[in-house]
Amino acid sequence: MKEYAPIGIFDSGYGGLTVLHEVIKALPDYDFLYLGDNARAPYGSRSFELVYNFTLEAVEELFSRGCNLVILACNTASAKALRNIQQKNLAVDYPDKRVLGVIRPSTEIVETLSNTKHIGVLATEGTVKSNSYLMEIGKFAEEMIVTQHACPMWVPLIENNECDTEGAKYFIKQEIDRLFHKDPLIDAIILGCTHYPLIEEQIRKFVPNHVKIISQGPIVAEKLVDYLRRHPEMDERCSKNGTVAYLTTENRETFDEKVFDLTGQRVKSTKIRL
Ligand code: DGL
Repeated sequence: MKEYAPIGIFDSGYGGLTVLHEVIKALPDYDFLYLGDNARAPYGSRSFELVYNFTLEAVEELFSRGCNLVILACNTASAKALRNIQQKNLAVDYPDKRVLGVIRPSTEIVETLSNTKHIGVLATEGTVKSNSYLMEIGKFAEEMIVTQHACPMWVPLIENNECDTEGAKYFIKQEIDRLFHKDPLIDAIILGCTHYPLIEEQIRKFVPNHVKIISQGPIVAEKLVDYLRRHPEMDERCSKNGTVAYLTTENRETFDEKVFDLTGQRVKSTKIRL
């Protein structure tokens, strides 16, 4: 059997599962290793320095477990840590490894998503403050009017499995109303946090019917397939036994139960310390 070299999927918590789900569908033969830093989530309102440090620790952990390619399935980490990791750490310490984020894939296709050219981005405070979406969309579709809005309560509600409560409904509606108050012409919303697709049904209830809601999972999966096709040297270094393993910094039972509650999937994770 070929050496175990899974594709690493990293998120601060459970949000990356929405990306993992789609990449498994697109690449069922590959091995995947998921890492959720649940004990330290949410990352959304943490400083640049802390998000960079935490993300680097997670990436190095995944490298040490055989990953040659890691996807930051977390917008906050992609916004605040990806560039530094690519430029400072990979270039110097891991020239053969690659780390990719989730913001670029979503912004590359943004032009095709809206008729009014008014687009909304719902994300964490950290992602919004980084202005990564504004900068990246500016590169591909200058004419697009992008309105960002932070939803600081959503990740804690999801991480704590409180998304079906009356309180959650209140916070979900409030942020959507605020987004449309900023720009009523929005006809497409990017869920710029990988946790948000886990509450897409609840979000849909408060969004006008004609407005598209875009989850990143399928977009990232398509771009990953394309990346591996364009980089056969990396593709060869990814093992393909169709396995999926889960690591968490949280208590193992809690992780497994919450994954079941959020996705209906039974998993057996391993607790690690970063
Ligand atoms: N899934 C992360 C993202 O896409 C959540 C960030 C957090 O932990 O606040 O931004």
